[in-house]
Amino acid sequence: MKILFISSEVAPFSKTGGLGDVAGALPAALASLGHDVKVVTPRYRDLRDAGRLAPTGQSLQLRFPFGEVGGPILSARVAEGLEVLFLENEHFFGGRHGLYGDAAGEFGDNARRFAYLSVGALQAAQRVGFQPDIIHANDWQTGLVPVALRRGFQSTSLSRARSVFTIHNLAYQGQFQKDAMADLGLPWDLFTSEGGLEFYDTVNLLKGGLVFSDALTTVSPTYAREIQTPEQGYGLDGLLRRRAHRLHGILNGVDVHEWNPVTDPYLPARFGPREMEGKAVCKRALLQRFGLPEGDAPVFAIVSRLAWQKGMDLLLEALPTALQADIRFVGVGSGEGPLEEGLRALQARFPRQVSVHLGFDPALSHLVEAGADFFLMPSRYEPCGLNQMYSLRYGTVPIVRATGGLVDTVEGGLDGNGILFEAFHRAALLAAFRRAQALYADPPRLADFRRRGMEKDFSWDVSARRYEALYSALMAE
Ligand code: ADP
Ligand code: GLC
Repeated sequence: MKILFISSEVAPFSKTGGLGDVAGALPAALASLGHDVKVVTPRYRDLRDAGRLAPTGQSLQLRFPFGEVGGPILSARVAEGLEVLFLENEHFFGGRHGLYGDAAGEFGDNARRFAYLSVGALQAAQRVGFQPDIIHANDWQTGLVPVALRRGFQSTSLSRARSVFTIHNLAYQGQFQKDAMADLGLPWDLFTSEGGLEFYDTVNLLKGGLVFSDALTTVSPTYAREIQTPEQGYGLDGLLRRRAHRLHGILNGVDVHEWNPVTDPYLPARFGPREMEGKAVCKRALLQRFGLPEGDAPVFAIVSRLAWQKGMDLLLEALPTALQADIRFVGVGSGEGPLEEGLRALQARFPRQVSVHLGFDPALSHLVEAGADFFLMPSRYEPCGLNQMYSLRYGTVPIVRATGGLVDTVEGGLDGNGILFEAFHRAALLAAFRRAQALYADPPRLADFRRRGMEKDFSWDVSARRYEALYSALMAE
């Protein structure tokens, strides 16, 4: 089948989090099942591998009430059956750093920017002569895609295609003041709470995706249940309960080529489930890189957006106590100012035990996954989470809060592969630290934990087949 996949970030070209990873890997997995896949995304200024882009000779010119906007369509052929199309526009994408915002906060014109992506993606497909059977949109940035398909917002000839909308994070909704309706040219009859985009007197782009798509998915079975509750529904649980028959939880996979300790080019030594010596080399390199004294103490790590979602405040609360024991902590992260400050202060207070790198550094994230003994994800909520799966593949035992996709991927218990804790509470996290230390003190048991994690199959294959089955079912309706 022909699949048009639309995402505001696509690895390796652009990425702020897991959405980029998924939009890089799932289309590739679908293409290797024999489908014809095109991904559409913005041509941001700070694109990685920009040298791979070539002109298609086509361009877009769209008219919105706020003005005319357009630009060339570029392309990268990534694999057999997989092409990524990039929408170029100097004003919206090419002329600024950052994907969604910068140090001053979210960009003020995000509604326009992502309306352009949503409508532009449909038009770009037409320009390059691609008639998709399935149009798969992701998160609030592409919420207007199903609206355009079903409600004729901007004209499109693709409305016979079936649409799928994936929720990667329900908390980010793309809410704008209601004058965005007129600014974007959205018909006012869509400004209703029941069956429309209205949400507490704002325009909610995510809601457009939830209401108008033919099928909804989210990135783990547990999160699919959680978002139907008032606690985790962020005001949209009622809508999601009404559409529950259309909502599927499909677990993300791992790009097993990028995340493979046997071949990983970022590592000073490689290792596998039956050949673990390389991991010790990586641990030494990690400590050296972070300027911490070598030794046999267990290394705990994070690689994370520093955001409320990730429970970094809880971690900062627990670490001073946890660090009374002989442990090390390394962190790679960027995000909210107070959390960055908190990590810096912790490093200043425990200079021989704590070292952090504040920034976004994919190469370093590989070394951390490989060299650490334990990987911490004390998330408040977690739609799927990818790092715990990377950790398992690298023989690094994940310590996770029992929520969302973390429950679906990490196995607790005596013969599991990780450590789970329930309450979002300091005492519960500290108890998890103690369990980790006990495990570390028992090398044969630790080796078993590691092996079980490393042998678990997280490849995209299984999940891609689930999407394929969903697409087929939609086409047969
Ligand atoms: P989320 O999408 O909520 O941030 P995920 O666990 O799904 O969480 O995915 C996060 C992705 O972003 C992973 O690939 C992780 O390695 C990467 N990542 C997050 N922060 C950083 C950072 N500071 N440097 C490098 N990679 C990071
Ligand atoms: C979101 C979620 C994360 C998920 C990722 C990819 O950013 O926060 O849990 O893994 O999307 O689906």
